[in-house]
Amino acid sequence: MTYTSHIPVIAIDGPSASGKGTVAQHVARQLGYHYLDSGALYRLVALAARHVNMSWQNAGALATMALELDIRFVDDRIMLNGQDVSEEVRSEEIGKGASEVAVHPEVRAALLDLQHSFRKPPGLVADGRDMATVVFPDAATKIFLTATAEVRAERRYKQLMEKGKHANLRDILHDLQLRDARDSQRTAAPLQQSADAILLETSQLSIEEAVKFIIEAAGQQHAH
Ligand code: DC
Repeated sequence: MTYTSHIPVIAIDGPSASGKGTVAQHVARQLGYHYLDSGALYRLVALAARHVNMSWQNAGALATMALELDIRFVDDRIMLNGQDVSEEVRSEEIGKGASEVAVHPEVRAALLDLQHSFRKPPGLVADGRDMATVVFPDAATKIFLTATAEVRAERRYKQLMEKGKHANLRDILHDLQLRDARDSQRTAAPLQQSADAILLETSQLSIEEAVKFIIEAAGQQHAH
């Protein structure tokens, strides 16, 4: 037990492009809670490595570097060592890098304290792959948010088109399936539904419906 254990955490885990980021941000905003985008941390490690030509396979060097990164979330911007990298960090290439650096237990351990530091009053919504299982195992509310690979690929495709980016649905689906396999099959904190998490399948749900479901689930936890 740490001195922050009384601060409520809503852990939302799930695969890439499930929409959990958007849903988690809405939940945080509605409840006035802080928000942790843990995937962004792995993306920042991959990006920082790319900046200095460090291999995504070099676990020791990546972990040392991760401990020294100056990472700041300012409104909806992401700052890395004083530089605004909000766009760069969201690219498909850096997403792939994030999934590769996230395989190393050393990197995951290096990011643990930083993740815990987001737990501040009145509460935290944390989104990622291992929020409920590893980072905040005492979270009051645990959600596993998913959708079929086809639906997720379509959501990602629409997002890219809206940004005016060239995209191919079949390539996106293929990349998603590869990323799912890597995230689920790694030995260190693999993507998996925590035994005590509520499954939220969003293929047929709107963002608003998913948000409402989670806020109600959190309210019920509170009442117990
Ligand atoms: O959520 P995202 O797509 O931004 O995450 C990028 C990668 O980071 C994802 O493929 C796996 C990794 N990741 C992780 O291993 N653990 C987390 N808690 C969050 C992300």
